Amino acid sequence: MDVVRIQGGRALHGSITVSGAKNACLPIFAAALLTEETVTIDNVPELSDVHTMGKLLTHLGADVKQLDPHTWQITAKKITHFAPHKLVSQMRASVVLLGPLLGRLRKAVVSQPGGCNFGPRPIDLHIKGFKSMGCTVRMKRGYLHLDGSNMKGAELFLGGRQGSTVTGTANMVMAATLVRGITRIDSSACEPEIEDLCRLLVAMGARIDGIGTHVLTIEGVDRLHGARHRVIPDRIEAGTWIVAAAITRGDITVHGANSKHLSAFLDKLDESGLSVLTEGPETLRINATNLKLRPVDIITLPHPGYPTDLQAQMCALLAVTPGLSIITERIYPNRFMYVSELQRMGADIAIEGPSAIIKGRSRLSGAMVMASDLRASAALILAGLHANDETWVLQKLLVLWDFHSRAHAGQRATLSRW
Ligand code: EPZ
Repeated sequence: MDVVRIQGGRALHGSITVSGAKNACLPIFAAALLTEETVTIDNVPELSDVHTMGKLLTHLGADVKQLDPHTWQITAKKITHFAPHKLVSQMRASVVLLGPLLGRLRKAVVSQPGGCNFGPRPIDLHIKGFKSMGCTVRMKRGYLHLDGSNMKGAELFLGGRQGSTVTGTANMVMAATLVRGITRIDSSACEPEIEDLCRLLVAMGARIDGIGTHVLTIEGVDRLHGARHRVIPDRIEAGTWIVAAAITRGDITVHGANSKHLSAFLDKLDESGLSVLTEGPETLRINATNLKLRPVDIITLPHPGYPTDLQAQMCALLAVTPGLSIITERIYPNRFMYVSELQRMGADIAIEGPSAIIKGRSRLSGAMVMASDLRASAALILAGLHANDETWVLQKLLVLWDFHSRAHAGQRATLSRW
């Protein structure tokens, strides 16, 4: 059990450079399985999930090297098709191995990825897409057995009850790059992370049209070659730093943030009274020193809608914004586990179905709270930065936010092992 201890109540000042995007990097690592040649990836974030993906690729037979803290090299000369439970269960994103294994080997045996703390994480749309391409799929003792020996290009529809599927789109695109024929994916996810993956695949020789839209068309080729790729900035990390400046009434400059990836989020902040200044192509300035925020109504949606991964962070900010705000979660209706922890800090929030009704208070108080997932951890740390006293955020897997060494902040968030 790790703990992040925060002595809050002071404004954050300083500058920070955003890491590479976790949710782009993980499918990009998996895409390296599609070629025997070397793929070099720059701007890789230093995260446990990245190391877990590296271990998985190594287990499959790839040669995986970390050249420096943010540069990795993957050469998958000869690979096998079996991904074991002990590794897959550590990270739900392991599901993105299915596409490249089917593209390269036409078969895959991968442990069924589990759920997470905010509810079930089904993969029925992934399976539906593979079956549309001619795959057979069997479930046996918790493992998915996929046989793609008869795969060919197909028309797919990836829309589900909550819109498209991000990792499902990644899987279909990666498989289709090496499958004979044309694959048209209707209701594709168009998150920036999917765009980034497609750009790497094109650099590797894939033929993809419609990048950045909800319809992707892929013409299969015989083989892909190596490439070098720089991962896009992490828009969720950038948004979280912006909330950190707002909730502490601080003044932060965020470098390496692409404001075009955050339009819905920045629009909501603007509606609430916080205008984030663009000081360069990838530089945002948040001066919240005299900020008076207004309550807002947010609905999370697939991109380009408001991102669900910035829902908890915004809830923490609205919990200390006078007035009545509402957040409705359309992607993961149970993604409010952290609210009970915010309530222990004095937040006045009621959950009504998929919505959080937030009555903003002037101040939260510190407490010992438990984080349930990555973004919940961030929300609780943000609330701790706002509270005047000390907050301990306990979590199984530590989310490293080392303010004092990264943001030269006026206050310190120190880490101590429990
Ligand atoms: C990706 O998860 C992200 N993870 C998530 O970020 C993010 O919250 C999510 O997309 C939505 O933007 C990675 O990219 C590694 P989905 P993913 O498939 O692909 C339903 C974080 O904190 N669905 O787009 O697993 C599903 O239940 C993580 O970084 C089906 O019904 O999400 C959800 O309601 C959390 N059937 C919705 O679609 C399926 O087969 C979106 O899921 C697949 C999904």
